[in-house]
Amino acid sequence: MSGSAFNAELLKLRELERVTGELNAQIQSTRKVDNALLENLSDDELTKLQIENTKLKHRLAILKQSIGEETKGTGDDVAVNSDEIISITEHLEKLFAIAIAKAYPQYSDTAAVVAPVGNASAKFGDYQCNNAMGLAKKFKEAGINKPPREIATEIQKHCPSSPLIDKLEVAGAGFVNVFLNKDYAVGALSNLLRKGVKPPRVPKKRILIDFSSPNIAKQMHVGHLRSTIIGESISRLLEFLEHDVLRINHLGDWGTQFGMLIAHLEDCFPNFLNESPPIGDLQAFYKESKKRFDEDEEFKKRAYNRVVTLQSGEPNSIKAWQQICDVSRIEFQSIYDRLDVKITERGESFYQSRMLSVVEFLRNNNLLELDEGREIMWPDDTKTGIPLTIVKSDGGFTYDTSDMAAIRHRIEEEKVDWIIYVVDSGQSTHFKAIFKAAKRSGILDPDSHRVDHVNFGLVLGEDGKKFKTRSGDTVKLSDLLDEGLKRSMDQLRERGRDQVLSPEELRAAQESVAYGCIKYTDLCHNRISDYVFSFDKMLEDRGNTAVYLLYAYTRICSIARNSGADFSDLNKVLDTFNITLEHEKEWKLAKTLLKLNDILIKCAKDLLLHFLCEFCYEVCTVFTEFYDNCYCIEKDKSGKILKVNHSRILMCEATAAVLRQCFAILGLKPVNKI
Ligand code: ARG
Repeated sequence: MSGSAFNAELLKLRELERVTGELNAQIQSTRKVDNALLENLSDDELTKLQIENTKLKHRLAILKQSIGEETKGTGDDVAVNSDEIISITEHLEKLFAIAIAKAYPQYSDTAAVVAPVGNASAKFGDYQCNNAMGLAKKFKEAGINKPPREIATEIQKHCPSSPLIDKLEVAGAGFVNVFLNKDYAVGALSNLLRKGVKPPRVPKKRILIDFSSPNIAKQMHVGHLRSTIIGESISRLLEFLEHDVLRINHLGDWGTQFGMLIAHLEDCFPNFLNESPPIGDLQAFYKESKKRFDEDEEFKKRAYNRVVTLQSGEPNSIKAWQQICDVSRIEFQSIYDRLDVKITERGESFYQSRMLSVVEFLRNNNLLELDEGREIMWPDDTKTGIPLTIVKSDGGFTYDTSDMAAIRHRIEEEKVDWIIYVVDSGQSTHFKAIFKAAKRSGILDPDSHRVDHVNFGLVLGEDGKKFKTRSGDTVKLSDLLDEGLKRSMDQLRERGRDQVLSPEELRAAQESVAYGCIKYTDLCHNRISDYVFSFDKMLEDRGNTAVYLLYAYTRICSIARNSGADFSDLNKVLDTFNITLEHEKEWKLAKTLLKLNDILIKCAKDLLLHFLCEFCYEVCTVFTEFYDNCYCIEKDKSGKILKVNHSRILMCEATAAVLRQCFAILGLKPVNKI
C-alpha cells in the first residue's frame, strides 16, 4: 500500500477512535453521576440512566469491532521493499502507532514515540518505544490503574511484524525495546554501496531560502557569513531530500542611502555613464558621501532628488545605481566563490513595483492606519507590540514594506510552500511581525504555507565580546578567509605535509581545511547560541572538528586503496562477497551508518545542522572502534598482505560514502591526500 493510502487508512482509523474516545468519556461521566446521585435518585431515574449506559456500551462495542476490522491487514501495509530508502525511526513510529491503535483503540490518536537507544547499552536493543508510561498516565486520569509494563506488553503483542525487526522486548519501567535485524542491515548497506547514498522519501515541497543578504556599499560582516554558511547548508540538505529549492539573496540594494551615493558618484566620477568607476573601497566612498550629506545642504538636496529620480527609473540614476551595486557585487561574489556558495540575487530593488501594489492592497483592506504622517500596520488584531511602518511620512518605503512585498511575491507568484529566512536573532521581532501581518492580511495561510525565521546567535571574539579586529573595527570577511588559509598552511607545514604532497595537493588540502573549519565551526554548534571564533580551536585535530573529520575520512578511503584488491567497482565486489556483520563492532558500525536517514529528517524538521555534525563525529568514532578491533587486512611481519577481509573493506567504503554525503551537505570538501 502506498504511503498516502496508508495515511488515509490511518486517518479513518483515528476518526473512528476519536468517536470511541468520546463515547468512553460519556460512560465515565455517567458512572460518576451514578455514584454521586445514586442515593438521591428515584428508581425510575436510575433505570433510565442504566439503560442509557448499556446503550452506550453497546455502541462502543460495535465501534471497537469495526476498528478491529479497519486495522486488519495493516501489518502487511508497512512491509518494506528491500530497495526502499527509509528512515528507521519513521518506520518504527508507523508500526507502533498501529500497535497502540490496536491495543488501545480509545487512545489511538497517540503519536508513537520512538527513540534510538544510547550507544552503551546494546543489550537494551537499538530503538525503543516509550509510549507505555504516557498511556498509563492517561488510564490513571480516567480512573483505571494499568501498570506501564502491562501496557508495553500489549503494545509489543500488537506490533505488526517487519523485516527491520529482529525481536521486541519489554524492559525496565515499560519500554518496548527493538532489536534491528541483521539481514535488513546487510541489504540496506549493500544497496547503499551499489547505488550510492540515496535520500529518504519525503513529501516534495517548493521552498524559498532567503539567506546571506548583505547590503550594498556596506561591509559584509560575520553575521552575513553565518547566514551564508547556514543558508547554503540548509539549501543543500533540502535539495538532497529532492525538494524544489530557490536560493535567494535578498540584497539590501535599495533605499534612500542611494541618493547620496549617486550624487557623490556624479561628482567624483563624472564619466560614470561610459566607464565603470574605479571605486576601490566602497565603504570609504560611502563614508565620504555620508559626511557630505550631513554637512552640505546643497548636496543633501541633490541626494534627495536622486532618490526620487532613481525610484522613478530615470536612466542616468539607474545607471549610477547599477555601477555602485556592481562594485559590491564583485566583492560579494568573491566570497561566495571561495566558500562554494550558489545563490540567486533578488534584492530589495526587485520589489519596487510590488511595494507599490502591496501598499495599495493593504490600504484597500483597511489594514493601514495613519500615525503622525506615517502609514503603519499592526501585526495582529490585538494592535499591541510594535507596528510595521509601511509608508514613511515622506512617502518612502521601508524594510518592512519590502518584506511584505517579498512575502506576497513568494507566496502568490513563486507559489512556494515554505519560506525560510536565515537571518540573525536580532531580527526576530521584525520577522514575527512580518509573519503575523502576512497572516492578518490573508497573504499567508498557515495551513498551507510554512514560514521559518532560522535565527542564529552572535560570533564572539576570544575575549567573549562581539567579534572585532584588534583595532576595534568590524572584521572584513576576505581578511578572515585569508587568515584561515594562512593558519591552515602553517598547520600542514608543521606536520611536514609540504614534503609529501605535490603543490596542487597541498593547495587543495589548505583550502579544504581552511574553509572547512570555518564552516564546520559555525554549523557544529546549535545555531541559536553564540560561539567564540578561534582559529586555534577550529584547527584542533581532536574532538568534533573539521580537521579531525577530514583526516579520518581520508584515512578511511585509503584502506581499500592500500588493500591490494580492486574496489573500484563495488557492484562487482558485491557480486562475489557479502557483507557479514558478525563481530559486535561491525554490527555497531552498521547500525550507526543506518541512522543517516533519521538524522537527515531530524535536521530538516528543525533546520538544525549540528545534529548532522554530531552524527559525522559519531560515525568516525564508531569507525575507529571497528577498525581497532576488526582486521580489514592481515599482513605478515614484512608487511606482505596475507588476507583481505572484503566484507570489512566494504564497511569502510560504506562509511566513506555516508561521510561524503554528510560533508557535501555541510560544505566540507574532502581531499584524497592530506
Ligand atoms: N539585508 C538585511 C541585513 O543585512 C538582511 C535581509 C534578510 N532578508 C529579509 N527578507 N529581510 O540585515
